[in-house]
Amino acid sequence: MATLLHIDSSAAGELSATRALSRAFAETWRTAGPERRIVVRDLHADQLPHLGSVALHRPRAARGETGFDPAQAALQDRVLAELLAADVVVIGAPMYNYSMPSTLKAWLDLVHIPGETAFTDPADQPLRGKRAVVVTARGIAAEPGIDEYVTGPLRQVLAVACGMDFEVVSTSRTLANVIPALGPEHAAAELEQAMARVRELAARPEPA
Ligand SMILES: Cc1cc2nc3c(=O)[nH]c(=O)nc-3n(C[C@H](O)[C@H](O)[C@H](O)COP(=O)(O)O)c2cc1C
Repeated sequence: MATLLHIDSSAAGELSATRALSRAFAETWRTAGPERRIVVRDLHADQLPHLGSVALHRPRAARGETGFDPAQAALQDRVLAELLAADVVVIGAPMYNYSMPSTLKAWLDLVHIPGETAFTDPADQPLRGKRAVVVTARGIAAEPGIDEYVTGPLRQVLAVACGMDFEVVSTSRTLANVIPALGPEHAAAELEQAMARVRELAARPEPA
């Protein structure tokens, strides 16, 4: 059975653009093939702790029994199992202060383990070739390269270190309802374009 890991990190609830985009991805993906399972991890509603020990950045088989909180290691086990079991991952990553939300960074810090999830030799990468689709949004207008402030660390870890097939879908001007100078019509057009793109990506067949 194909599995989607659906991750959100926006604090904006029903008003969130990234939640609307990740939901559209999940809804399209669910019906795009038989026997599909979606696992949801809402990093805002169910926040992960900050990394408590550098030992958790070492491969589990090599870290020994001490030097970390066993409860946090058990939580990391669950988060890693979710990621490793997924065939495709959609990640809602809003821009917060020119970065990703700290809730999402806490997830990234738990799953990036050199020598376990991350390898320089592609043959060793357990996540190699799996798809990661990152949906991002910012309040003011898009600028060249600005999305990389949010998506750059995700790209470095998931695409470069873990070998995942990485796509970004972006929208901007989401504050046009409170800053009319941003142009509500431009904001709506951008969101519509981003919606079309996530649906197109979600409809792609998963490898058998
Ligand atoms: C804490 C916080 C920080 C933000 N920082 C920025 C920022 O640096 N640049 C920007 O363009 N918008 C910023 N915004 C606006 C959000 O990027 C915008 O509301 C976006 O739509 C968030 O994604 P969401 O709709 O999925 O919640 C910020 C919003 C919040 C709540």
